[in-house]
Amino acid sequence: MLCILQARLALRSLPVTELRCFASERSKGKILRFDGKEVKCEVLAPGCFQGIDIAFFDASDAISKEWSLQAAEAGAWVVDNAAVYRMEKDIPLVVPEVNGELVAAKVKENLKTKLPARGRVIAGPNCSTVQMVVALKPIRDRWGIRRVTVSTYQSVSGAGSAAMTELKQQVSEIIAGREKAPEQSAFSHRIAFNCIPQIGALKGDGFTSEELKLMDETRKILALPGLKISATAVRVPTLIGHAESVHVECERPFDLSEVREALRTQPGVLLQDDPEKGIYPMNVTFPGDPVEGAGGRDFVGVGRVRRDPSVENGLQLWVVSDNLRKGAALNAVQIGELIARHSS
Ligand SMILES: NC(=O)c1ccc[n+]([C@@H]2O[C@H](COP(=O)([O-])OP(=O)(O)OC[C@H]3O[C@@H](n4cnc5c(N)ncnc54)[C@H](OP(=O)(O)O)[C@@H]3O)[C@@H](O)[C@H]2O)c1
Repeated sequence: MLCILQARLALRSLPVTELRCFASERSKGKILRFDGKEVKCEVLAPGCFQGIDIAFFDASDAISKEWSLQAAEAGAWVVDNAAVYRMEKDIPLVVPEVNGELVAAKVKENLKTKLPARGRVIAGPNCSTVQMVVALKPIRDRWGIRRVTVSTYQSVSGAGSAAMTELKQQVSEIIAGREKAPEQSAFSHRIAFNCIPQIGALKGDGFTSEELKLMDETRKILALPGLKISATAVRVPTLIGHAESVHVECERPFDLSEVREALRTQPGVLLQDDPEKGIYPMNVTFPGDPVEGAGGRDFVGVGRVRRDPSVENGLQLWVVSDNLRKGAALNAVQIGELIARHSS
């Protein structure tokens, strides 16, 4: 995700005087381009965070656990996209369009009295959570939310860059008539031309870790600790972009045209809702298609807005976003922008 993060930084308003990129030995010396200059990838090492103002972590939970507090101790703000800090009570879990005020509050507190290292850590959510809470925010604000049921259709890039290579290899081998199991796999089963109803390890009550993240993180970000929510997370053979079928039971009656208007004016959302004309959010589209695909874009597409007739005040939405952008790199850079804006 390093390249996406660097590309997002280039396109946003975060004032970057120097960008340094760290990864493993595998990437040592790799050249990335930023602001017309070459940036050589370095290997994480003790002391490497000296002089850094904001450190973005987009590696495994183990790497975040080992290194992110070291960055904060060296004086940096840490924006961490791994799962380690997301559900910690004292650490804000932030999607700027939904609860960005938590970042402003932390920065102001730090300006008043310098916070301990842990106080300068901000967590970014799981990709499937980010897009759903952006779509749910205007619904919560106006009509209240009693219950949410969501099924996801998640692309392979959610499992890292190696998983994208694996899908492409499997597809080409199967098309060439060679069906064989890969020696090492990012998935528990064949992913090419398949849907796998398990993302992450199985945990309590038959849910997977991905489903529990989606449920717990949504409650935390929407500040609805008692929200009834149930998720099914499915890996599908798409490359980039996650889609979600979201059923919402609102607390108060709504008018569908007002729901559409609330979504249309919600920052971060692109309402794509004219199904008669084939207009609804999708991961990818061909050039010239009347719908803009979410892959490679910053928006959260929302469409197929309709009543759920099976329940009072029921609403159904189809939500699609680029998991590497709004689901990860863009969200992190937006948090960085808030830190920079409130620090000056
Ligand atoms: N993909 C998504 O949609 C998404 C969305 C939200 C959050 N996240 C979270 O973001 C994190 C990264 O996921 P990803 O999908 O970007 O994975 P990825 O494509 O596999 O990238 C992992 C990164 O970690 C680096 N890394 C691995 N071992 C390292 C080491 N020993 N020292 C330093 N760096 C090391 C890798 O560098 P090398 O290439 O040099 O190994 C690579 O840059 C995860 O915690 C994930 O949960 C991902």
